[in-house]
Amino acid sequence: MAQIPETRTALVKMSPGQASITTQSIPALKPGFMLVRVKALALNPADWTDIDYAGPNEVQLSKVNVTPSQSRYEGAVVGLDYAGIVVRVEPVGASRATSNMTTNKIFNPQDRVCGCAYGCNALDPNAGAFADYIVVQIDLQMHIPHHMGFEEAASLGVGVLSAGMGLFHVGNLKYPSYFTSLTGNQEENDDYSDDREWVLIYGGSTATGSIAIQFAKLAGYKVVTTCSPRNFELVMSLGADAVFDYKDPQIVSLIRTATSTNLKYALDTVATDSTAAICVGSFAFLPKSSAEVSGSNIRLYVCLLDPEMPMNTSVEVEKRAFLGYSCFGSKFYFEGDIFPATPSDHDFGVKITHLAERLLQLGKLRNHPISVNENESRTGGLEGVLMGLDALRLGTVSGRKLVYTM
Ligand SMILES: NC(=O)c1ccc[n+]([C@@H]2O[C@H](COP(=O)([O-])OP(=O)(O)OC[C@H]3O[C@@H](n4cnc5c(N)ncnc54)[C@H](OP(=O)(O)O)[C@@H]3O)[C@@H](O)[C@H]2O)c1
Repeated sequence: MAQIPETRTALVKMSPGQASITTQSIPALKPGFMLVRVKALALNPADWTDIDYAGPNEVQLSKVNVTPSQSRYEGAVVGLDYAGIVVRVEPVGASRATSNMTTNKIFNPQDRVCGCAYGCNALDPNAGAFADYIVVQIDLQMHIPHHMGFEEAASLGVGVLSAGMGLFHVGNLKYPSYFTSLTGNQEENDDYSDDREWVLIYGGSTATGSIAIQFAKLAGYKVVTTCSPRNFELVMSLGADAVFDYKDPQIVSLIRTATSTNLKYALDTVATDSTAAICVGSFAFLPKSSAEVSGSNIRLYVCLLDPEMPMNTSVEVEKRAFLGYSCFGSKFYFEGDIFPATPSDHDFGVKITHLAERLLQLGKLRNHPISVNENESRTGGLEGVLMGLDALRLGTVSGRKLVYTM
């Protein structure tokens, strides 16, 4: 059995805008969790926004049962995406299984694993990924296929959960039998009629968008997407049927024309007020007064953040914003609010990571492009992570995921 050190090195939020590399005890293993030796870490925008978060206002704080320091995630290990090697597994014993912990994933020491940890977790400060040893929830992790390196695999966790939730859980798009059977039979996949529905993946060159394009295509939809022209080739190579530059003043009419004015679903991975306006403007026209406004006719706008919807639209649109943290299946705190555990979100998280694991093995799902140890000195480790977070703050990273080796 591998020797487990007593301490680990972790990146911890100290105060708003400040995270430091610290030494701390290896967290205890709970049933349903496993200890992983981390080999690569990937960055997400949430990593730096959580570090910089200054905390809720006093009214919000008075409504949540957390300390002021907790409400700012202080003392919590940062980071979500990782890849590494399993060191020790603590399965959920039959007598100890809880409703929010399932056992259908089998991991053993030495397995190569990737997925998502819960960084800047106010209620469980040891749950983050940016450390040399981490503890992760077994049922949301994926085996890394043989053809994939740790660096590529590290980029997948958040993208799989977010894109999957946005499309098939929150977005309610059909989850075809091809997915459920996991046969990998391409003929089943190709059996599409010409009247496949269009979906808009706004922000196709984001890490979430690139996985979402692939999921939507595998599920049998036609994808229209937006990104900068430098990333057109990337999104087309992932399967997009049409792509437009979101800076084009005619973007709405371009999308409407491409979709024959028949768009009913959009996943907005950028989710600002202006991107919400573009998505909503692109929807098929359906007067608010129409008797058709119900069920399958609703125009659904699914977003990763929570932008304002445009005023005075002529189309009835339902907005659904979501937080991927609910996939962990536990109560969580986020920016001044407590969210209850949602077992159905957790069940979906288990299902979509299981599916993604299979698609990766079959070579049907590609990781977002990565850039390894990107900084002037090519520094890896947690020092490299800190430099990478500064690059994300500056907004200079386009069409690639920053990854740091450990
Ligand atoms: N709710 C959740 O659970 C959840 C989960 C994951 C992420 N998020 C949030 O979702 C957002 C995206 O995260 P991510 O990691 O997928 O992004 P990312 O990979 O960091 O996104 C970078 C890309 O954003 C694109 N972009 C920026 N502004 C754009 C615009 N106006 N229109 C279209 N594309 C634009 C750029 O595309 P070009 O270079 O091509 O211009 C760039 O390549 C972040 O705010 C993140 O915090 C939320």
